[in-house]
Amino acid sequence: MAPDPLVRLQAVSKIFPGGIVGLDAVDLDIARGEFLTLLGPSGCGKTTSLRVIAGFESPSSGEVLLEGRDITALRPFDRPVNTVFQDYALFPHMNVAENVGFGLSLRRLTRAEQAKRVGEALDMVGLADKIGARVSELSGGQRQRVALARAIVCEPRVLLLDEPLSALDAHLREQMQVELKRLQSRLGTTFVMVTHDQTEALSISDRIVVMNKGRIEQIAPPATLYDRPATKFVASFIGTMNLLQSRFLGRDGDRLRFAAGALPLEAVSETGELPGEGAVRTIGVRPEDLLATTEAAAGTAPVRVTSIVFHGRTLRLHAELEQGAPVVIDAPRRAEGFQFSVGDVAHISLRRGANCPMLSN
Ligand SMILES: Nc1ncnc2c1ncn2[C@@H]1O[C@H](COP(=O)(O)OP(=O)(O)OP(=O)(O)O)[C@@H](O)[C@H]1O
Ligand SMILES: [Mg+2]
Repeated sequence: MAPDPLVRLQAVSKIFPGGIVGLDAVDLDIARGEFLTLLGPSGCGKTTSLRVIAGFESPSSGEVLLEGRDITALRPFDRPVNTVFQDYALFPHMNVAENVGFGLSLRRLTRAEQAKRVGEALDMVGLADKIGARVSELSGGQRQRVALARAIVCEPRVLLLDEPLSALDAHLREQMQVELKRLQSRLGTTFVMVTHDQTEALSISDRIVVMNKGRIEQIAPPATLYDRPATKFVASFIGTMNLLQSRFLGRDGDRLRFAAGALPLEAVSETGELPGEGAVRTIGVRPEDLLATTEAAAGTAPVRVTSIVFHGRTLRLHAELEQGAPVVIDAPRRAEGFQFSVGDVAHISLRRGANCPMLSN
């Protein structure tokens, strides 16, 4: 039998006064030592999920379990859980060491033990040299790391992080993502992080929970979520995805043949559902899985190029299929120059071996 998950949310709903749905029958298992990210648009229930796990919010129905034990009624301080809030909430009148040691001062530890653990936590986040500094003397990234040190010093089983990097500039943010991931591997602590940045979620997580309107749309490792999104919502939330209305033509083994207008497509059915002949389904096609050429050939369909956007290594073509359906294509930028201009007709085809998901609503 599989061991109990570290944390389990079992049919957790949270209805706020006025009937506002925060969470709607959420089932979620969080494994020991994993880096789990909650991802979704504003108001989808990410913070509410963290607050329910931390005990700051009690569910309207459902249970929170820790290693199989029902902790739904347990107060926040009695849970082996710590939270890093979005605004860090550091104490401005205390120095770095006092901020980090604050949680420890509530426990029965000698001064020497406290000082040792504060030192270790600051070492961990690379701020040993700032131990006596005032909070006001620190940069945004350093304050962020003090908040992290303050949370890990108490050695929680679960560390909850609500948009911990949102206040940082892009460069520092990327650096902190790497540090956060490294810290998590070193500590072996379970991290549950909230973000609405899909790039951040993809780069840092063991698994991602995609939420929408208080419900979970899909839980999967980053690559699975990117390659095999289960729903239209997930497909359009993670990276760029063309959602092409396509007619089912027939199957070749486990490949399903479709056509989006004149464009032949091959799709895989995650659910095993086989559409009836002529049925229309939404097929997800990544821009990098479409090829554009100047000449028509078997398996290509004409599109009119409406704009070309510079993306560095690639150029992104925005175009229209003959029925006017928009389609986005990422074309490599060749040294000898790119062959399309706005208004041109390009002939596009599906890259061989591309895995296009057949999506449900
Ligand atoms: N204390 C509250 N009282 C009433 N409604 C609330 C309360 N807290 C959250 N909500 C509502 O519950 C829903 C989920 O809120 P939540 O804060 O969990 O969203 P979120 O995913 O964290 O969004 P964001 O990305 O904007 O932080 C929203 O519709 C929100 O307005
Ligand atoms: Mg929030």
